[in-house]
Amino acid sequence: MTDEIYRSPRKRGRIAVLLSGRGSNFRAILAAAREGRVDAGIVLVLSNKADAPGLASAREAGLETLFLDPKLFASKEDYDAAIVRELDTRQVDLVCLAGYMKILTPVFCRAFKNRILNIHPALLPAFPGLHVQQRAIEWGVRYSGCSVHFVAEEVDMGPIVLQAAVPVLQDDTEESLSARILVEEHRIYPEAVRLYFEGRIEIQGRRVFILG
Ligand code: GRF
Repeated sequence: MTDEIYRSPRKRGRIAVLLSGRGSNFRAILAAAREGRVDAGIVLVLSNKADAPGLASAREAGLETLFLDPKLFASKEDYDAAIVRELDTRQVDLVCLAGYMKILTPVFCRAFKNRILNIHPALLPAFPGLHVQQRAIEWGVRYSGCSVHFVAEEVDMGPIVLQAAVPVLQDDTEESLSARILVEEHRIYPEAVRLYFEGRIEIQGRRVFILG
């Protein structure tokens, strides 16, 4: 990571959401945009899964949706290059990964450097990867939570924008802890997007400063 300073733009933003599943974080961002809590609009919802419920709810909400089938591409890089072309065509400012279950290749990360956010259901850098709520319970941590972070080439390791902590209770199951964390995800993800388009996010190395 270099020491160059990045400052997010202050503008009405054009967002693309990438998802593979349920889409509850997508709906939280959409609600914030439609209620004017975030100065941005979602111009595209893209998925690698034709039957992702989140894609169906985007269609119902009247948004442009796109399913790109990874099987039709010779490599992961080709697939990501196709996504980048779709995003560029629509002049997307910010990509929000919301339960997107593919690892981004450097082709994508570099094209949208400092312009891709992700939400992760743990307090990074603890518990990167998958099944992290279950792993938090098994580890016996007293607190877990969620992190909104920029996407860098190393998975789940980009600069952290916002985090929220929740207690891990003794009788928690994966489902009960996930549900408690999800409430916070829906709060902090739109909040991070708001700060981004208020031009209030500055990245210095691996630290994010919230201005103003
Ligand atoms: C969330 O737990 C998020 O933190 C993780 O994937 C899940 C997506 O849920 N990255 P949803 O599709 O937004 O409901």
